[in-house]
Amino acid sequence: KDDPRLQAISEAIRVIPHFPKPGIMFQDITTLLLDHKAFKDTVDIFVDRYRNMGIAVVAGVEARGFMFGPSIALAIGAKFVPLRKPRKLPGEVICEDYELEYGTDRLEMHVGAVQSEERAIVIDDLVATGGTLSAAIKLLERAGAVVVECACVIGVPEMIKGSCRLNGKPLYILVEPR
Ligand code: PRP
Repeated sequence: KDDPRLQAISEAIRVIPHFPKPGIMFQDITTLLLDHKAFKDTVDIFVDRYRNMGIAVVAGVEARGFMFGPSIALAIGAKFVPLRKPRKLPGEVICEDYELEYGTDRLEMHVGAVQSEERAIVIDDLVATGGTLSAAIKLLERAGAVVVECACVIGVPEMIKGSCRLNGKPLYILVEPR
């Protein structure tokens, strides 16, 4: 984690206090997307990590996993699979519920998007509790994929500490929240 690019990536992420509600320090990656070098470095770090790992599937979590996943998929020669919020995908789906602070949410994936035994990574902008990534892992595994790792731009220190694993899967994180 002594990559000199990480400092600039962290600084390109804007923090908006009390959004969407009091007490939350929102980590806004739209400012990272505005900074060509920081955005490219972010994608490049993931691409360098995953290019020779036989990854066939990059699965991105709605909405901000869609902003990083396709670039990574194209660069490593994998397909991109969107994991979406309920009732967005038009075809037949499988779905997985997960817990929020209040209530539950759900991710859906198209049936047929991945094939049995395909090696997959899951991309999102941020991991907090890990609930979203856990649901993503379950969806892919139910479809027969082999989830190699989850990757996020931002992770809370508790998730980064030591060898954090989600459902037994390694988690790769670039920076901590600011
Ligand atoms: C945020 C973030 C992750 C998730 C992380 O998305 O982009 O997907 O929360 O939280 P967790 O680790 O506690 O599950 P959000 O649910 O706000 O959805 P959005 O991207 O559609 O705004």
